[in-house]
Amino acid sequence: MSNKKRVLTGITTSGTPHIGNLAGAILPAIKASQNKSTESFLFLADYHSLIKNNDPELTHTSSFEIAACWLACGLDPKEVIFYRQSDIPHIMELTWVLGCLTSKGLMNRSHAYKAAVAENKKEDPDKGITMGLFNYPVLMAADILMFNADMVPVGQDQKQHVEMTRDIALRFNHHYGEVFTVPDVSIEEDAGTLPGIDGRKMSKSYKNVIPIFLNKDDLRKRIMKIKTDSKEPGEPKEIDESSIFNIYRAFATEKLTKELTNKYKEGIAWGEAKELLFELLEEKISPLRKNYEVLIDDRTGLEKILLSGAEKALDVSTPIINKVRQAVGIRGFGD
Ligand code: TRP
Repeated sequence: MSNKKRVLTGITTSGTPHIGNLAGAILPAIKASQNKSTESFLFLADYHSLIKNNDPELTHTSSFEIAACWLACGLDPKEVIFYRQSDIPHIMELTWVLGCLTSKGLMNRSHAYKAAVAENKKEDPDKGITMGLFNYPVLMAADILMFNADMVPVGQDQKQHVEMTRDIALRFNHHYGEVFTVPDVSIEEDAGTLPGIDGRKMSKSYKNVIPIFLNKDDLRKRIMKIKTDSKEPGEPKEIDESSIFNIYRAFATEKLTKELTNKYKEGIAWGEAKELLFELLEEKISPLRKNYEVLIDDRTGLEKILLSGAEKALDVSTPIINKVRQAVGIRGFGD
């Protein structure tokens, strides 16, 4: 057993990853996973995705595309334990056990659940709310506790879920004896939030995203659609308010960013600024796109990678679930 700090995080397998995700989440997480002093667990939270999506084809494809995306962007499955939640049935088993000691009141306080209730306004507050949504934090607690993670890096929106995980772990340990590590949360800075093509935050709910894996022509077309103000060529332009600039900065070196800043002062034409952004993104993305195309065409290879990750993950989860069963009194009559 290594004494390395165990860092674990999950990726919800829904949606099409965009360059905001790339700059803000994917690349920083891959970089963090290369830290030799930690043991990194990264998994595809495919059972979580069922909460929002009940189209089997989409569930399957998203999981596959997101796996290919992370590997294409540089995740090294030799350095990181990279697995699919659904390959580790112990997580589902633990979800039940934890659910049996989690108070309903704690779950009532979940932001995601409360937001769904609030949307119902004066109608039936339970309308459209599934037990999946309600139990989401318990499943997430099981994801984390199943591997005795020390640290869970997440975005601000997931902080409460990790705090609930801590509550649940403490409660279990108090009642049944020390089994679980009480995990710390580390909040990822929001440095990576990029504007979308309409200037609002890049988000799939605004339909303003630039997907990572567009082909070259479509990437160019998408960039040409970025909204600008009506300043003429030759007029100095503001960098802070410019989506083009802010996206550029997220991918450029300091030197290039400075150069573009000067060009803005000198009154670069919007068309030219877009062209520079396109060239930069194409340079950054084309190697990833090549990797992605290879991976997406080799489902068997991808499956192999995930199953080998699952094997490593099971080596960790098996002794822990055995401990849990013992602790709660679920064991063979001969034991
Ligand atoms: N709920 C997280 C999100 O939407 C994904 C996730 C699932 C997760 N299980 C996790 C993150 C366990 C950290 C640890 O982003």
